[in-house]
Amino acid sequence: MSISKRIKKAVIPAAGLGTRFLPATKAMPKEMLPVVDEPAIQYVVAEASKAGLDDILMITGQNKRSMEDHFDRAPVLEATLRDKGDTKKLEAIQYATNLGDLHYVRQGQALGLGHAVLCGKQHVGYEPFAVLLGDDLIDARDELLTTMMETQERLGGSVIAVMEVPEDAVSAYGVIDAGGHDKEPGADVVPVHRLVEKPPVEEAPSTLAIIGRYVLHPEIFAELERTPPGKGGEIQLTDALQAMAAKPPEEGGGVHAVVFRGRRYDTGDKLSYIKAVVTLAAEREDLGPELRPWLKEFAQTL
Ligand code: G1P
Repeated sequence: MSISKRIKKAVIPAAGLGTRFLPATKAMPKEMLPVVDEPAIQYVVAEASKAGLDDILMITGQNKRSMEDHFDRAPVLEATLRDKGDTKKLEAIQYATNLGDLHYVRQGQALGLGHAVLCGKQHVGYEPFAVLLGDDLIDARDELLTTMMETQERLGGSVIAVMEVPEDAVSAYGVIDAGGHDKEPGADVVPVHRLVEKPPVEEAPSTLAIIGRYVLHPEIFAELERTPPGKGGEIQLTDALQAMAAKPPEEGGGVHAVVFRGRRYDTGDKLSYIKAVVTLAAEREDLGPELRPWLKEFAQTL
């Protein structure tokens, strides 16, 4: 089957229960936790939009209504801000509604990341598409998604993003075997021979961890349909990608990894989330000049 090459659609899985942030996430989605003054999910939607992906499908679940409201118009609030002449805040809230064409589908059952992506099958159709995971924020100054999209257009198959992590962190990620190509100087794109979801450190094929950005060939959907539950009893995207890596190119096979060396902020657990908020706030023009000296002073009291 011939496929249209230009990548237009993004899928953002956002159906997780957010148990790591309880009780804060008892009645609100973790994607709405503020990172400085924007909900975490807004950074991810903005990243997709900046890369030209303006058709965005969110895979949601229970408790996720506030996300839909966030990206929708808010006529009463907008009118109030307009009457007050508060154009700055008006622009800030309208920004979220203009990021793209947002669609929602509910996952229904929490059967894993692979299952969440499979829920996008009908909306995506038979064309390559991007997947962005909400726990990983990529600094807006660093290009990643665009490089991945260009790589997929050039090489076909699927493209993932990986990053070097310390050895004791590998078991929190999917880990790849790049057949030694990652050791070549300046290796920015490497072939992926094998992918393992959250291996114990002694079984990890490398310290190259999969980070939450993917550009996938649509054959992944058929593969996900036959992928049995893996790690944690969940249908794993990593396992379906392992099968794709072993397939010939004419069947949509082949997986390459873009090695990311830029700034990534993890908002998936409490400690990383706090670090992400402090880092991003310290770099902001409006907050940084006061926050940075205070942080230095505070650090001395520790
Ligand atoms: C998921 C993937 C994992 C990947 C990680 C990146 O895991 O299954 O392969 O390394 O995202 O953040 P999760 O963090 O959702 O458990």
